Amino acid sequence: MKRLTILFALVLTFVIPTFAQKSCLQTAICGARSNAERTDYKGKASLLKAIGHAEKVLEQESNIHKINAETARLRRATEKYLSHRPSQWVTIQNGKLWTTTAGDTVQAHAPGFLRIGDLWYMVGEDRSKSWNPDVNLYSSTDLATWKFEKKIIENGVTSPELGKTRMIERAKLMYNQRTGKFVVWCHWEASNYGASEAACFVADSVNGSYRMVWSGRPLGIKSRDCNVFQDTDGTAYFISTTEENNHLGLFQLADDYLSVTAHTQLFPWQKREAPAIVRLADRYFMFSSACSGWDPNQCKLSVSSSLQSGWSELANVGNAIAYDTQAAAILEIRGTKQTTYLYVGDRWQDPDLPRTKTIIFPISFSDSTCHFAYHERFDLNFVTGEWRATPSAPSFADKSGWTVASCSSQETTSENAPAQHAIDGNAQTLWHTRYSSTPATPPHHLTIDMGRTLAIQGFLATPRMDGDANGLIRKYEFQVSQDGYRWTTVAAADWLPYCTEVDFPAQSCRYFRLVSTEGAFASLAEIDVINASADY
Ligand code: DGJ
Repeated sequence: MKRLTILFALVLTFVIPTFAQKSCLQTAICGARSNAERTDYKGKASLLKAIGHAEKVLEQESNIHKINAETARLRRATEKYLSHRPSQWVTIQNGKLWTTTAGDTVQAHAPGFLRIGDLWYMVGEDRSKSWNPDVNLYSSTDLATWKFEKKIIENGVTSPELGKTRMIERAKLMYNQRTGKFVVWCHWEASNYGASEAACFVADSVNGSYRMVWSGRPLGIKSRDCNVFQDTDGTAYFISTTEENNHLGLFQLADDYLSVTAHTQLFPWQKREAPAIVRLADRYFMFSSACSGWDPNQCKLSVSSSLQSGWSELANVGNAIAYDTQAAAILEIRGTKQTTYLYVGDRWQDPDLPRTKTIIFPISFSDSTCHFAYHERFDLNFVTGEWRATPSAPSFADKSGWTVASCSSQETTSENAPAQHAIDGNAQTLWHTRYSSTPATPPHHLTIDMGRTLAIQGFLATPRMDGDANGLIRKYEFQVSQDGYRWTTVAAADWLPYCTEVDFPAQSCRYFRLVSTEGAFASLAEIDVINASADY
């Protein structure tokens, strides 16, 4: 018996740790290899040599110290190689569907991110069929070009016992330094959101085979919309909307991230969802939304120096509909000159679940506040960590000489919102349809005379920027005319994408008209048209 115990102790001391160390070395090899495959920086040959050496050690070595030393050596070699990334600007454009390097639509809604070297991995809901989503994995070196890696969770297949009945939402991916494993936590729901469960999956490599470890109500608590947060000391948390959407639950995870060990209730009765946490020095910032189904609502921020307590009162950030998004993640781009934080959100209603857009824009923090402003496009430098307004924005027509030919109505009594404000070049002023005395009824329209014939191939409607969402135009028609009498509709849809250029085949016209065909109000900060390309 005694001998058996000693043997068991030996196994625990040497064999199991060796397994964990090997797993970490294996992960370092996979990370180095996939980074080498997807990039072409100076020093690639040395990195490939280091990978080859590490592979031999992995195969032949069983001494823990030697394995650890090799892992550290390979990590250093990888870092050295990645330090040769050239400093370049990458443009991120919002409002459009993302396509993969193979030309397919990216399906990774409510995404979660994990960075390995210069590779960003993104997991998210595959909503190509709207309901019962699977979970897809993509990778990118610049958050703009995405390669489809694989479907990591297939509804009804990865865990077949329930059939394809689950709503797998908000999958989030983490790497566990201690175990060398990749862990996914998600909302694991039944069709009527009554199950209120979570689930956890694990794999040996980022694009390996994920198996379900656990599903259910964490510590017996009903749990819906969720996210994860990994603190600087490696402690991880699952955070979710609990007990019929009433509270947020902060669930501390075990060291291996595969189970929940403790629960702290946050924001009692405040009905928050879509939580996303980021840590800056010794402060945690948490973004969250109200619960309004797929409709966007006001994003709010709370700050604390402890995850478990002391959260400040929720404060509004951005406009009343979070620029038509709901939070999914906050990314950190740490560079040689600065750190840029990126807000990632889902534009669920634009125009439906399969075509939901992923929106990214830079945000910044000072003390306990966040500067949270929408950018239709911006440039990012992954080496310096800087961002800037994109200098090569499309060519918008010069507005001098433009006049308002007609408009359905304008509000000039309760606020100064004449139609002229939509073409004054100032996004801080706005046109609003009449709401004093007898409110105007739809359709609302604004007709502009450009004063000369122009070839145009698109327009950009900039919504009001004052934080209010009243009058946001959704169902619309965009028409052009040469003489102001005969009109051609060149674009129309049930959903005008928020602050996004709408393209149409090039047209010569002197007049254009934006019609808002439903909604009690219409409002607009600016309307611009895009010059047709020179070869038109
Ligand atoms: C909003 C949530 O944030 C989404 O993840 C999803 O659960 C929808 N509600 C369902 O209405």
